[in-house]
Amino acid sequence: MKKNKISKEWINRQRRDIYVRKSKQEDFRSRAVYKLQEINDKHKILKSNLSVIDLGAAPGSWSQYIIRKFKNCKLLSIDLKKMEPIGNSYQIVGDFKESSSKEKIINYFKNKVDLVISDMAVNTTGNKNLDSVVTGELCLEALRFAKDQLKQKGIFVSKIFMGSTFNEIISEAKLTFKEINVYKPPSSRKESKESFIICKILR
Ligand SMILES: C[S@@+](CC[C@H](N)C(=O)[O-])C[C@H]1O[C@@H](n2cnc3c(N)ncnc32)[C@H](O)[C@@H]1O
Repeated sequence: MKKNKISKEWINRQRRDIYVRKSKQEDFRSRAVYKLQEINDKHKILKSNLSVIDLGAAPGSWSQYIIRKFKNCKLLSIDLKKMEPIGNSYQIVGDFKESSSKEKIINYFKNKVDLVISDMAVNTTGNKNLDSVVTGELCLEALRFAKDQLKQKGIFVSKIFMGSTFNEIISEAKLTFKEINVYKPPSSRKESKESFIICKILR
């Protein structure tokens, strides 16, 4: 009963949401695309000819945006869920946390990369604290991977939740990168604890 109520609310909210409508008109797979666009407008993370790893990429709007707007990017997308192919990007279906997935990513690029972006989030349980802890752990894992795989002037962007893991992530990011910013794009829902951490230049 409660589940039905939640899905009705979700459907109504989606109908009202201007970003959902805009994403349909512009043929993007998710409203999440506008978060990446806004992050890029403010923090200048994207340009042509970059090597990019998109963690937690499904259904694929961030990858679509990169392939559509920037020329010659070498893009690898990974998610637990399979997605429709996007241009000439390379897709891995798997759990990023597993070492076999990390090995596949490393083998694909052979060299260090310019940009690691992560929008990874676990399925929400309804318990906001638990959700933020588990998603925080994904962010830390992505940060450690980015530290090893980025070029010295590389950039790491990740979803981050305001919650118990926030301070730990910021401290580790400051030890790893020279420039750290936390930004909540206007298209991120006000009621969500989500923000994004933008980290530039490895120490
Ligand atoms: C908010 S969605 C990403 C939306 C995406 N940025 C887009 O623009 O379409 C979060 C994604 O993270 C993925 N995810 C969560 N945990 C993961 C893991 N351990 N490995 C890979 N993907 C994961 C989920 O399957 C989900 O598709």
